[in-house]
Amino acid sequence: MWCRSIVFSASLFIGSAVADVKKGEVVYKTYCASCHGPEGAGLVGPNLTDKEVLHGTSKEEIIKVITNGVPAKAMPPWGTNLKKDQIADAADFIKSIMGKNLTSPFATGKSSVTPFPKGTLDRPLLMRTYMPVLDLSDEVFGHHDKGKAVHKYTHKSGKEDPEKLDKPIHGIVGAIAVNFGEELSYCFDSTECRLLYTWKGGFMDMTNYWGKGAGSGRKRFGYIGKVLGDVGYQTKGKAPVVGTPQFKGYRKLNNIPEFMYSIGDVNFTLKVSPGKKAGEAVCHYTSDAVNGLTFKFNKDEAQLFSVDRGEFKNGTLTLNGTDAAAFTITIRPISKEAK
Ligand code: HEC
Repeated sequence: MWCRSIVFSASLFIGSAVADVKKGEVVYKTYCASCHGPEGAGLVGPNLTDKEVLHGTSKEEIIKVITNGVPAKAMPPWGTNLKKDQIADAADFIKSIMGKNLTSPFATGKSSVTPFPKGTLDRPLLMRTYMPVLDLSDEVFGHHDKGKAVHKYTHKSGKEDPEKLDKPIHGIVGAIAVNFGEELSYCFDSTECRLLYTWKGGFMDMTNYWGKGAGSGRKRFGYIGKVLGDVGYQTKGKAPVVGTPQFKGYRKLNNIPEFMYSIGDVNFTLKVSPGKKAGEAVCHYTSDAVNGLTFKFNKDEAQLFSVDRGEFKNGTLTLNGTDAAAFTITIRPISKEAK
């Protein structure tokens, strides 16, 4: 009898721990996989399955780093966005994959992370990372905080040093970069909720940010990756739609990311896919602007656009409520001769 009850309670305990790992996996896939990779083998964020652990291996330490993040190193603090049990479940999931020594599918040779990530037409790659500003003017970043210096953080002490400041990183903080192989890459800004630039013929060289791989990478965070290939379009001027932008997240439709956001009272979705010609970006928008919408684009950039709905004159696109429900703007890359 006695023996039985021990077995019974032990299996109950294991049962609930498994459930937490499963719940944690859902949290992980939703919030963490974009940086740490689908299986935890690393992407923008470090491999969570290898021997190199920066912030500790105990559940408490893992909960602490998830809750507080590592502000200087692009690990967001989750304490305000996730519930305590979601964080604890995510920590259980991370403990369950620790030591698995998985390698990233983007890896070259022995390294678990390649500095040259790549997607394909069928399986575009999405990275949330600091992106270079290129030639974009300050006007484009009307809703960004001007970079603040942050306190230097040391892994050893696990504390920020109140005496020392790291310079703000000169890069686009809320950027999401997507690559469809050689044909098209683009950079979306989740702060402005706006497509910033497109390019073709390569994606990113992340050596500055990740290091050369083989575990050398993560200590060198804080530098911006480089755009590889030809930049075909860069947005200009103030936001084309007036109102405060708010990013709501993204989902994947047949592997293609679709961003969800609002500007003022209007909800939008934006899905960008490659056009017929290399470098062409087809921007599929939907909105719930039943009373119609007006986009005021900079005239120079508008020359690269063709639209399938509404009236488009001198850079101003006017859509009635029906047209605003679903429309596309196709962006041609600027030709080399025209530059
Ligand atoms: C925007 C990218 C990003 C997202 C999203 C992200 N992380 Fe991180 N994470 C990082 C980076 C970068 C580091 C490395 C911090 C450092 O160098 O100190 C890190 C570090 C960690 C560590 C410490 C690893 C170690 O070696 O000690 C854990 C654990 C972790 N993240 C878990 C999570 C969890 C759980 C989530 C989702 C709730 C998450 N991360 C979401 C970027 C991200």
